[in-house]
Amino acid sequence: MRISREEMLAPTDLPFDKVPPYRVKVVEYTEPTTRDQRKQLIKEVQYSACNLPAKYVYVNMTTDSGTSAMSDRQWAGMWLGDESYFNSKSWEPLKKALQEFSGMEYALPTHQGRSGEAILYEAFVKEGDIVPSNMHFTTTRAHCYYYGAEPVDMTCKEYYDEHDPSWFKGNIDVEALKQLFIEKGDKIGFVELVVPNNLCAGQPVSMQNIKEVREIIDKYKKRDVIFSLDIARISENAWMIKKHEAGYGHMSCLQIVQEMMSYADVSHMSAKKAALVNMGGFVTVRDRTNYMRLQPKLIRLDGFLTYGGLAGRDLEALAIGLMEGINDYYLEDKQRQSDVFANACKKLGVATYNPACTLGVWILAEHCLPHIPKHQGPGTALASQAYIEGGIGLTSMDSLHRGHLDPDDPTNYAKIQLAPFELIRCAFPRRVYTDSQYEWCAEALYKAMEWGDKVPGYRRFDMGDARPQLEDRDFGTHTFFDEFEPLFEHP
Ligand code: F0G
Repeated sequence: MRISREEMLAPTDLPFDKVPPYRVKVVEYTEPTTRDQRKQLIKEVQYSACNLPAKYVYVNMTTDSGTSAMSDRQWAGMWLGDESYFNSKSWEPLKKALQEFSGMEYALPTHQGRSGEAILYEAFVKEGDIVPSNMHFTTTRAHCYYYGAEPVDMTCKEYYDEHDPSWFKGNIDVEALKQLFIEKGDKIGFVELVVPNNLCAGQPVSMQNIKEVREIIDKYKKRDVIFSLDIARISENAWMIKKHEAGYGHMSCLQIVQEMMSYADVSHMSAKKAALVNMGGFVTVRDRTNYMRLQPKLIRLDGFLTYGGLAGRDLEALAIGLMEGINDYYLEDKQRQSDVFANACKKLGVATYNPACTLGVWILAEHCLPHIPKHQGPGTALASQAYIEGGIGLTSMDSLHRGHLDPDDPTNYAKIQLAPFELIRCAFPRRVYTDSQYEWCAEALYKAMEWGDKVPGYRRFDMGDARPQLEDRDFGTHTFFDEFEPLFEHP
């Protein structure tokens, strides 16, 4: 490990707003395909990029989860992994990193994000509760249903206006939250803020918003309330605060994260995102008693308190990756690459949700294929066509995939509420693709869009009795099983 954290942040006049602060040592070859092959391949997997064999996806932006390239520092760290079951010495550097990152005294390693959520929701969410959020991620929503609680999404109004120029469109609507506490505070024991807001076009949350949530909880709570941050991509949120929120420009992203965390009681992280590892997660806790409440649950679900379902070498890679992921030069470059892609899209007339955040770029498919009605999945259609054109993998988050089901009639798809936007997520695997590959993605989207009304709308594929109905408590995960079919052949 030749370069230290401090050395990585040494003052420089090199333009890290134009070029990355690293170079590439290992490359992975891709499997070449042709347009005819891709057209056949996507048909065979029922027109879902997520079902494609990954080897046939040239630029894979279906997710940024577990898809990062690790650094030589992380790989070197893995050789130091201590695989002892109890009190592995690899837990020490991770515990220290988590305490520094979060400013919280207690931490539990978990094998990924959702296993950390599982122990938190089991410990702190009760049947009949309401769990407010700026927009629950699929898995925290699923945990709510599992424990008989109601997830309530309260995204701020600015998010719903695609022309609104605000920088923090991932915020929670604080007025609505306050009102909910006043009216139903006896049912609120857990508040979840996702920073940044993955399912709302990756939009960031402001420090002001986090502070206000803390104030509302302290002032209006009617019972003990845990304020939880879902921090899968907090580092990228910190960069947006540094750049666009008054008073934070002089601070490092690590200091900004520490301030964000200072308002919360617990945090949980899927480290597969901003912490630059392929597997891992953790929970951090401020209060000792709360930490002790989680201990037996971690042991039952994931593993002993010092490894939580991970190998010793994974603990080492995570301790290093967490701190690399909060490096200001790296984050500046990530924002730059996001802008490269967004600008390439704009130049070609491919509509993006604005602003493009540090995390990635979201496409507004309803503007690219205006002939397809919302309930026929313009995002699903555009993503399939873009795969055919350029071998790119994207995740559709349109009404067909993500429209909310009716909580009183969860298995009735006819009652789906349309999503506010027909989004496609172009997630950026970290440190993996070059600028020219992102420009190619923009071109593939443009080529797809150019087919106009020759691109088909979609409908839900009826599997008859083949799939058992989801139990109510498993409600919320349907988006990972649903299948769709085009109304006619793709061009
Ligand atoms: N929270 C957020 C905001 C997430 O985006 C994810 C996962 C999780 C929690 C759960 O973490 O997968 O490690 O168990 N998001 C992935 C995605 C799957 O593609 O957005 P996990």
